[in-house]
Amino acid sequence: LFDSMAKDPVRVLVTGAAGQIGYALVPMIARGAMLGPDQPIILHMLDIEPAAEALNGVRMELVDAAFPLLGDVVATTDVTVACKSVNVAVMVGGFPRKEGMERKDVMSKNVSIYKAQASALEKQAAPDCKVLVVANPANTNALILKEFAPSIPEKNITCLTRLDHNRALGQLSERLKIHVGEVKNVIIWGNHSSTQYPDANHATVTTANGEEKPVRSVVADENWLNTEFITTVQQRGAAIIKARKLSSALSAASAACDHIRDWVLGTPKGTWVSMGVHSDGSYGIQAGIIYSYPVTCDKGQWSIVQGLKVDDFSREKMDATAKELVEEKTLAYSCLN
Ligand code: NAD
Ligand code: LMR
Repeated sequence: LFDSMAKDPVRVLVTGAAGQIGYALVPMIARGAMLGPDQPIILHMLDIEPAAEALNGVRMELVDAAFPLLGDVVATTDVTVACKSVNVAVMVGGFPRKEGMERKDVMSKNVSIYKAQASALEKQAAPDCKVLVVANPANTNALILKEFAPSIPEKNITCLTRLDHNRALGQLSERLKIHVGEVKNVIIWGNHSSTQYPDANHATVTTANGEEKPVRSVVADENWLNTEFITTVQQRGAAIIKARKLSSALSAASAACDHIRDWVLGTPKGTWVSMGVHSDGSYGIQAGIIYSYPVTCDKGQWSIVQGLKVDDFSREKMDATAKELVEEKTLAYSCLN
């Protein structure tokens, strides 16, 4: 305990903390799953007034769990207090879609939240605060946050597509009957929506003798990678809603921890992950949108993996999901006006 308290605490904000992802996420953060087992945390939890009592209940449970890494908890419905000096902001607050809806159907409710919270973060957060937007439509909420918080560096505003990335690894592991840790370097291109492009063309499997083989060379039916694999990952969120009558929560919380952990502590050598980041025009994607790319992270900075070969099949899918993001941007602005 004394060793772990040797590091300065990191302030982590979770918005929508009284919701179902929040409930799964805050204990993971307090146990060190996001920033490491020796990093003390001060948790900032924000929700809205109707959820204030539930939020206080979560705060009580955090106290009752006696987490050694948890230095303090700020539970509030005041966005200014919530954002004060935070180093990491995980933006979960908003409304989830229900069965039969697309993620962009929650646009009008959610983008205005991100416009409003952008200025609080800009004014209150620590100067190098890293922001992860989870609430849907995640890429477009992140874009709105970026545009209404111009003093936050673009590189610090990201959205969650790690859940889709992990889902793709999970599907390959089940299909190939190998442990998920033996598969790596899938890519989610584009939007966290049903147009996303889960791409296994560069994915590899590590064999028992440590050799890395392309997934394409070990999968029995290659056509599966161009068909069912893609649609299963694209539709996984909807399948969870159908089964649980609620959208994914534990897997989303776990993916949010993976996203921040790799961003802050670095990706393992030879491994990339997918993150929704500000496009610089890489791979011919319109600059300025928040697009999911393969990235590696080092010393707290992500960089897009360059030079991957893109065939015609991939090109078409990468462009289709970019087109949807450009349309979502227009729709978002029409909701704000
Ligand atoms: P939920 O309804 O259980 O919780 C959301 C919480 O946000 C609620 O407690 C609500 O009161 C709060 N909230 C609403 N407006 C707020 C505001 N202005 N400020 C602060 N808090 C506010 O929903 P959930 O299941 O936890 O999902 C949260 C969001 O995450 C949804 O938009 C969902 O679609 C999205 N999601 C994204 C991914 C992803 O991979 N990117 C995965 C799963 C869910
Ligand atoms: C998910 O991918 O599970 C979330 O974005 C929730 C949803 O609406 O699909």
